[in-house]
Amino acid sequence: MHILVCGGAGYVGSHACLALSRAGHEVTVLDNMLTGHREAVRWGPLVDADILRPETLDAAFNRKVDAVMHFCARSLVGESVTDPYAYYQNNVTGTLNLLEAMKRHGVDKLVFSSTAAVFGNPVSAVIDEEHPKTPINPYGASKLMVERVLADAATAYGLRSVALRYFNAAGAAADEGIGESHEPETHLIPNALKAAAGEGAGLKVFGTDYPTPDGTCVRDYVHVLDLADAHLRALDWMQREAGAHRFNLGNGNGFSVLEVIEAARKVSGRDIPYEIAPRRAGDPPVLVASSRQARERLGWSPKFERVEPIIETAWAWHKAPAY
Ligand code: UFG
Repeated sequence: MHILVCGGAGYVGSHACLALSRAGHEVTVLDNMLTGHREAVRWGPLVDADILRPETLDAAFNRKVDAVMHFCARSLVGESVTDPYAYYQNNVTGTLNLLEAMKRHGVDKLVFSSTAAVFGNPVSAVIDEEHPKTPINPYGASKLMVERVLADAATAYGLRSVALRYFNAAGAAADEGIGESHEPETHLIPNALKAAAGEGAGLKVFGTDYPTPDGTCVRDYVHVLDLADAHLRALDWMQREAGAHRFNLGNGNGFSVLEVIEAARKVSGRDIPYEIAPRRAGDPPVLVASSRQARERLGWSPKFERVEPIIETAWAWHKAPAY
């Protein structure tokens, strides 16, 4: 198939391009290159376009497009609390622009990057697809709005879609020259590895008074190549299934911030100094996925189940980043 990968110069999007190309699909990347990396566009041509400028989108549909994967988003929980307009504009209005362009060009299949942040504060130990959706930050709210739009679009226009709710994406395909590189970097694993390498302004642990075993937030880390693999399976799924579908993607294992720092210390063999800081706005205490549906229905089976092997790939990238 020929897949238009929106946001394909970014972290998860570039790993999806790699997986698509390995599986024999053709890729075109659409990206505004504000946060994307030119060096990460390796598996197909780049169309310089912006989902917030609808008139730029048609150029990407000049070739036949069988399906769209949509990774363009603002995705920082803390920033979404301080700048909600930017989040609703990019993630909701931008997505509507993309959906309208797809409709104009007769493209009826979409894989959408959603997030664990749609759930808000968990009311059960493990979060499955039926868990209540009460997001506690604008980022999660913006993604949940799009999930609703996709359900309505299935009814009204016959759009087929799969929303994949990532838990905490991590790791890299360093041997293929792609990895995680954000400016500024806000995510725990790259920040811990920076501290291990003696770089950056120093690692902070945001909050040690959460209702968790060691007081720090617990997250479910999932390898970015396992996420990419789920996207391929979602493509196959949409060949068979009409409607709007949602799947949670995580390993089902929770690791606290302090456990991640300890794992990063083991992997890197370096000390990781950190200081305790206040809680960060918008962080729920625990987010751990049930991905039973993805396993049973998509046949998804993550290759990286524990956090240490995930961090090993992130460390390999950190030691020799291509960008
Ligand atoms: N953290 C620190 N220090 C840091 C960075 C993070 O203590 O330098 C803590 C955070 O407070 C949080 C945990 O580490 O408790 C994980 O934080 P990340 O920033 O790595 O990831 P998030 O859980 O905030 O965000 C990820 C995705 C979002 C998704 C979210 C679900 O990046 O897109 O999971 O809540 F929405």
